[in-house]
Amino acid sequence: MKQMLNIALPKGRLGEKVYRMFEEAGFECPAIREKNRKLVFENEEAGVRYFWVKPVDVAIYVERGAADIGVVGKDILMETEPDVYELLDLKTGRCRMAVAAPAGFRDSKGSTLRVATKFSNIARSHYASKDRDIDIIHLNGSIELAPILGLSDVIVDIVETGNTLRANKLDVVEYFAPISARLIGNKSSFKFLHEEIEAVMEGLVPLIESGKAEKEAK
Ligand code: PRP
Repeated sequence: MKQMLNIALPKGRLGEKVYRMFEEAGFECPAIREKNRKLVFENEEAGVRYFWVKPVDVAIYVERGAADIGVVGKDILMETEPDVYELLDLKTGRCRMAVAAPAGFRDSKGSTLRVATKFSNIARSHYASKDRDIDIIHLNGSIELAPILGLSDVIVDIVETGNTLRANKLDVVEYFAPISARLIGNKSSFKFLHEEIEAVMEGLVPLIESGKAEKEAK
């Protein structure tokens, strides 16, 4: 019997975009388009079982083998450093990691810099590389509020269109890491389901190279 490949997709816009790439690569699962609250969908014939996972949790499923492969943002990989293989850059879901602050902000360097972020590890290593003392204020969302309310001096966050920063009168101080969606694989699945995983990768590569999936999403 053919082995099913378990695939964790990030719930939301990125996951839908990425599912379309899998579909076009020949790993469709029509049930996924039904409007309901189900989280698991499979197509036995194509040998795939998809499940929708909260984006920050995808790497946990893959690292522990509950999923064989999955799709996750490079930001989350940088932040959590899971023990998985990074198999492909899907070149979609592109954004940049940035430091942002209220217009006119100057780092006085005399005092500890207060940094609000949901990417505490990334922020810590970024400022460690500059030898700058910081105080991390870990938040779980709406990061842009922190400097507005005086909770922090700057934020470290992802910027895609820049709309959220503009709407909150914040300027980019520096961009320091390009981000995009990555296909990741569980290490033992990569050994035992090598052919199945290779087949998915072979289906995805031409789509990534043509840039078609990304253009269609715009
Ligand atoms: C992310 C990020 C920024 C925004 C950037 O937030 O934290 O707030 O998107 O996108 P933009 O440059 O296109 O405006 P998300 O939507 O994940 O919500 P959150 O505030 O709950 O983290």
